[in-house]
Amino acid sequence: MQTRRKALVTGGAGYIGSHVNYALLDAGWDVVVIDDLSTGRRDLVAPAAAFVLGDVGDPQTISALLDQHRPDAVLHFAGSISVRESVSDPLMYYRNNTSASRTLIEATVNAGIGAFLFSSTAAVYGAPSRVPIDEEMPKVPINPYGTSKLCTEFMLSDVAAATPLRYVALRYFNVAGADPEGRTGETPPISTHLIKIACEAVVGKRPYFEVFGDDYPTADGTCIRDYIHVTDLANAHVVAIDYLMNGGASDVFNCGYGHGYSVKQVMDVVHAVADNPLEVRTSARRPGDPPELVADPAKLIRRLGWQPKHDDLRFIVETALAWERKLLLEKE
Ligand code: UFG
Repeated sequence: MQTRRKALVTGGAGYIGSHVNYALLDAGWDVVVIDDLSTGRRDLVAPAAAFVLGDVGDPQTISALLDQHRPDAVLHFAGSISVRESVSDPLMYYRNNTSASRTLIEATVNAGIGAFLFSSTAAVYGAPSRVPIDEEMPKVPINPYGTSKLCTEFMLSDVAAATPLRYVALRYFNVAGADPEGRTGETPPISTHLIKIACEAVVGKRPYFEVFGDDYPTADGTCIRDYIHVTDLANAHVVAIDYLMNGGASDVFNCGYGHGYSVKQVMDVVHAVADNPLEVRTSARRPGDPPELVADPAKLIRRLGWQPKHDDLRFIVETALAWERKLLLEKE
């Protein structure tokens, strides 16, 4: 009988990490989560996963954890994710996303673990000159969030050249939706993402929805993004970690569907899914928003055999809204 493989998931009490826990468990992995619960929630961690409260940026904590659990692979989600916050507090982003990653990578190498999966972002491309964006396009972040993640990609590339560590960096486009079984979903202390905010407005947590700018050079004047269902993204991690476990070389992959929707198109779907009217206002552009970000996911599909199942904006909105309604019931 094959022994079960074990994964350490940092940030596993957060939005994407918590979905990846379930996907890994379903794929037959044992899972150990470390999370400092600064933004994550303990109850989002899959019951079958072990949980450790701690900071991945602390060398003693992380070395002791790797020593105790001896995982076969490390998946690194812990970090800060708000573009706006990164602009006002860049050093926090270089600490949480770059320095903490350095500590974790060093401990991983010292523990002799050969497979590392890094949660990167489309923000490494900045405002690209064309779409869809493939992995070879210039990496010119336009905010500290993107730069802090790109620094970690650089570190991984250098470390992989010098040590046996192999890594995959997944560059996420716009992740949205929630676990179709309702076990976990997006639950940040402060919401910034479009579909999450729109669903909060639908359930009455916000008085109205605000479109940030309708004067972009796009067909309807609002920004275009490639929205990927979080469960499909979680499965990209499973195929990526399998690839590494099977000896795959270090590499970087975009995660998106390859087509985009404008803010207005998303709101049309939200209106169609919700059964109550929603006030929509238009305000000024949000600083740092590129007009259009759409992934070219061909590499992920061809090289790793990723097969998305929920390339359907309506399903994305339905699952996001179901989660929002569940959160509302929790409060009552
Ligand atoms: N938007 C609104 N109103 C809102 C929230 C968002 O109009 O209340 C618009 C934004 O202006 C943008 C689009 O909806 O045009 C998407 O915004 P999100 O905040 O949902 O997502 P971003 O595209 O800003 O962020 C994503 C990832 C980040 C990454 C960034 C790169 O979530 O991690 O892309 O640009 F850094």
